[in-house]
Amino acid sequence: MELIDGNQIAATLIAELKAEVAKLTGRPPCIALVRVGEDPASVSYVTKKQKMCAEIGIESRLIFPPVTISQDELFALVDQLNADPSVDGILVQSPLPKPLSEIAVFRRIAAHKDVDGFHTLNLGKLAQEDDTGFIACTPAGIMELLQRSGVSLTGKHVVVLGRSLIVGKPAALLALQRKPWANATVTICHSQTANLASITRLADVLIAAIGKPEFVTADMVKPGAVIIDVGVNRVPDATKKTGYRLTGDVHFPTVAPLCSKITPVPGGVGPMTVALLMKNTVKARRQHSAAAAYN
Ligand code: GUN
Repeated sequence: MELIDGNQIAATLIAELKAEVAKLTGRPPCIALVRVGEDPASVSYVTKKQKMCAEIGIESRLIFPPVTISQDELFALVDQLNADPSVDGILVQSPLPKPLSEIAVFRRIAAHKDVDGFHTLNLGKLAQEDDTGFIACTPAGIMELLQRSGVSLTGKHVVVLGRSLIVGKPAALLALQRKPWANATVTICHSQTANLASITRLADVLIAAIGKPEFVTADMVKPGAVIIDVGVNRVPDATKKTGYRLTGDVHFPTVAPLCSKITPVPGGVGPMTVALLMKNTVKARRQHSAAAAYN
């Protein structure tokens, strides 16, 4: 069994981006990070994104409206950022507090500034295999992890556990693309799938993104499979100072010995997601002058 080291692969990617940003002429890339309310996981994620921006030479603007912001006020904020020529990318951290509609906000972001890749147009471009679009950071990070660890998906059976807009659906579309390293046969499983274990056991590559701690157990895995664990679950743990520990969607102690390769949690997919956000922001900066033609 080999661990896929997300920290190390992300560090390589970050060094590449830093060199690329240093060569850009004009102002540095700029991303607006919008975090509504004080959800502790969101606070932690957005702080990581800010630190990474600073390291690479990307300007970040943190905007943290209160949890009481209305849908219309949030739309107005997005509109203002859309119209601001000094902003290349906009990220609204998910999940949004109730009753705000996340999907409506994702659609409100100008498609050419949608570095999260959740806008209708960018999801359409992913389906059409149009590389001018933005691809959601977690699935893009998974593909980068696989490529840089020498795992080609061509001809393999990829099983995606989870059908979310943020991970499952775009991950499945990426694995399916007619691209070197992709070209997989893809199955998507979810909460209504019957005989789940009989399907996951067929996976050469299993992408677990269902948000249920330690859901994938040894009996669900084919020996020799590659496992990508996207889960970031906080489970109570009285022995920790914070009162919780992080665990993935995979029961690591029993599953890891069966696999050929597996990502740990933390230190697997997580660092890649942030690195790919940076990559998308640099791409947005490069494409900015052509923004009017983005369709
Ligand atoms: N919450 C969890 N993952 C993501 C992500 O990739 N983007 C945003 N905006 N929110 C998230």
